[in-house]
Formats: sequence, structure tokens, C-alpha cells
Amino acid sequence: MINFRRLPAVAYFHRYTIATFILILFYIVYLLFRWNFICTNAQTWIHVNRICDLFDKGKAVGSICAPLCTNNAIHTLTCHSFKSTKEAVFSGEWHQTRLVFKTASSDVQELHWYDNGVLKYPSEREFLATAKAIVKSKLNITLPQETAVRLTRLKPNYVESDVRKRQKEMDNIWVLLQDNEYLLSNIFTERDIFPQLLGTCGPYFAVEYMDPIQGISSILSFAEDKEEWSVRLRTAIQIIELIEEMENGFQEPFHLCDIKLEHFGIVKGGSRLKFIDLVGVYPRSAINNLIKDTDGCNSDEDCEFLDCRSRCHKSINKCSRKVTNNNLQIICEKIFLGWRMSNTVLIPGLLMTPDTPSELASILRQCANPKNEPGKPRESPDEDTKKRLYNILVEIEQSVTNDFYL
Ligand SMILES: Nc1ncnc2c1ncn2[C@@H]1O[C@H](COP(=O)(O)OP(=O)(O)OP(=O)(O)O)[C@@H](O)[C@H]1O
Ligand SMILES: *[C@@H]1O[C@H](CO)[C@@H](O)[C@H](O)[C@H]1NC(C)=O
Ligand SMILES: [Mg+2]
Repeated sequence: MINFRRLPAVAYFHRYTIATFILILFYIVYLLFRWNFICTNAQTWIHVNRICDLFDKGKAVGSICAPLCTNNAIHTLTCHSFKSTKEAVFSGEWHQTRLVFKTASSDVQELHWYDNGVLKYPSEREFLATAKAIVKSKLNITLPQETAVRLTRLKPNYVESDVRKRQKEMDNIWVLLQDNEYLLSNIFTERDIFPQLLGTCGPYFAVEYMDPIQGISSILSFAEDKEEWSVRLRTAIQIIELIEEMENGFQEPFHLCDIKLEHFGIVKGGSRLKFIDLVGVYPRSAINNLIKDTDGCNSDEDCEFLDCRSRCHKSINKCSRKVTNNNLQIICEKIFLGWRMSNTVLIPGLLMTPDTPSELASILRQCANPKNEPGKPRESPDEDTKKRLYNILVEIEQSVTNDFYL
């Protein structure tokens, strides 16, 4: 039995061990915050204060500045506790609409310059041409005039005539234009596959909030639950349909290079899926260029951009000029099958449950690793595998739903 009166003596005896233990504990907690594994609303408030400070100084303009800073129309701010690589991801409520705030990277060279001490800004023509050039160089997309013009204004149908105000607006837009997420949400706003852009304030922008996909929390559940199984099947079908749209609905197919289940969201009140995290989303030629420009590779692992993979030509130490895997491969590997290590599934994915028929499991393995490569798969599944996967999912889903209602 522990003698509690001796506790101080014991503690004293082990004081170094205890001190070390406490230090390590503090360090772990510090790291969790540092890497954003945990977030607190304090962090959200730091961002809000920063936005509103910029707004007060007249440096930040945009439609969500006033509601956030002066009349508290945006309320119930909450942080999103995820291991996040972005500076800020938090949400708030504005007239019954939930918004998610994100920030464009702030280390961008200033738009204005000084000529013999005189403050200079580009002309409207130059600014428009620059916006087009940014989109061309980042995404290899030639914008229609109308879209380019929209990109150079914060209010779609309003031309700021006050020169000083317009200059501030240009400064703000300039920072936002460097952000891939902002660009895609803005350019493809009518396409309904990326979150709707709802407003901006300085380097911050807000997009529509989307519900997470059901089943994320119960990903480890082994319960034989027919209803859950049919939800999972329907989600899988929707994911395939969404990437189909992203690959065929544009001049070039989009590659989603950072695929996780949390990066798919459901539009409020609907069943439509959208892709949330656009940092790793690029048209094919842009992703090819990103991979090609990697200098000096020694192994295939050096020729990757997040989940988008290519190969290394070892004789010349250069990455292949084309991405070799595709969206469906990554989805089969990371979302449908689950987290694997040396070809063993460790954390079962969306479609790996006790209900999974062996035929489906076999198609999924084929899809995730078409050439049965050791290490990270780098091939894309062929058209036939894609069709078989889609058809079998639809078939199982229908039979499960029918069973359910019989
Ligand atoms: N529009 C949105 N609607 C709902 N939730 C969102 C939205 N945007 C982001 N989130 C949530 O916040 C998380 C982090 O956002 P995001 O992926 O954009 O940032 P990140 O820095 O890349 O984070 P991570 O490294 O976790 O992917 C997302 O995984 C998602 O759960
Ligand atoms: C840009 O895309 C077009 C096809 O839309 C392609 O032919 C061209 O090679 C691409 N340019 C670059 C620099 O990748
Ligand atoms: Mg992310």
C-alpha cells in the first residue's frame, strides 16, 4: 500500500525524474499546438485581431471586414482542430450561414513600388494583364476576359473610383491572387465543385462551410450495420462521380494531390460533394511542370508532389515529365482501402468492412496498385478497372438498399 505521508519524500527522491517528466509533457503539449494538432479559440482570436487591426489601419478591405470587425455580424467563431499546414482555418456564422476563413500566404512581394520616392501602382490595364499572367503561369489557364476582370475586383459589379481606395483594393487582391485556393474558388465559382467564395478581408477569404462526410468518426467501426454500409457505398459513388467531373469537365483534367476523406465535404442541406482543400489541386500540365521542375532525383520518391507521383529517370537524374498516377488510384489507395504499410491494411478505409465482398476488395486492390508494385504505387488504373469498380459499387449499393427496405 502507498503511504501517502511519505509522498513528499518520494517526490523529493525522484525530483529529477518528475521534473524531466513534466518538462517532456509541456514540450509535447507545446508541439501539439505548434503543429496545430490542437487549436484553441485563442488562435482564432489572434487572427481576428490581426484582421481587424489591418482593417482599422485601412490596410485591409473587403466584404467581410465590417461584419467581422465593427458590428459583430459574424459570430460563434470556432477553430478547426486539425493538423493544419495553413496559417489559419476557422469558421464563423453570418446570417445563418457558416463561413470558413482561410488566409493567403502573407510573404508576398508588395504590388506597389517607389520611383524616386513617389508611390507607384500599376495601371488598370497592367493589373488586369498581371492577373491573367499569374493564372497562366500557375495553372496554365487562359482566362476569359469577364473572369479576368472579376478577378481584379473585390466587388463583382462595382468599380472603385476613389484612387486611394482602389490602390488598397489592388494591394489586397494581389496577395489573394497568389493563393491557389482563392484562385480556384474564384475562377470556377459557377462550377459547383469547389467551395463557394463568400467574401474577403485583406489577405483572408471566406468560403462556404461544408459538412464532413458521414462515417469519418466511425471509420474504425466493425459493426455489421447495413445502413452504414449503404451510406459508405453511396459516398464512394459520389466521390468517383466528383472526380469524373473534375477530370472531364475542364480543358484539362484536375489532379487532386492531397486526398483525404476530410478534404471532401457535403454542401449544406444537400447531398452534393465538393473538394475542400485546394492547395494541392492543379490542372494536369501545371502538375506535370511542378514535378518536372524538381531538381536532381535519385529515386522515384523524389518525384512527387504530395500524392501525385511520377518516376525518376535514374540515368539522367531527372523526373519524368508526366504524373503517372491519377485521382482514382489515390482514392482507392488512401480512401477506399485505407492506410497500409508494406501491403497490409492497417486502418480500414471507407469500403473495407466485414460486408465487403471479395470481388470488390480485389478490384480495389487492382485500382490502388495496378502493377502490383512494391512501395508506393505509381501507375494509374485503366479504364476497365474504373468501369468495373463503378459498376460493382452501384450494383452492391442497389442490392443493399433493396434488402434494407424489404
Ligand atoms: N469549407 C470548409 N468546410 C468545412 N470544413 C472545412 C472547410 N475547409 C476546411 N475545413 C476543415 O478544416 C480542415 C483543415 O482545412 P484545410 O485542409 O483547408 O487546411 P490544411 O492546412 O491543409 O489542413 P490539413 O493539413 O489538415 O489538410 C479540413 O480538413 C476540414 O476538416
Ligand atoms: C498548357 O496547356 C495546354 C493544353 O491546354 C498544353 O498544350 C500546353 O503544353 C500547356 N503548357 C505548359 C507550359 O504546360
Ligand atoms: Mg488540408
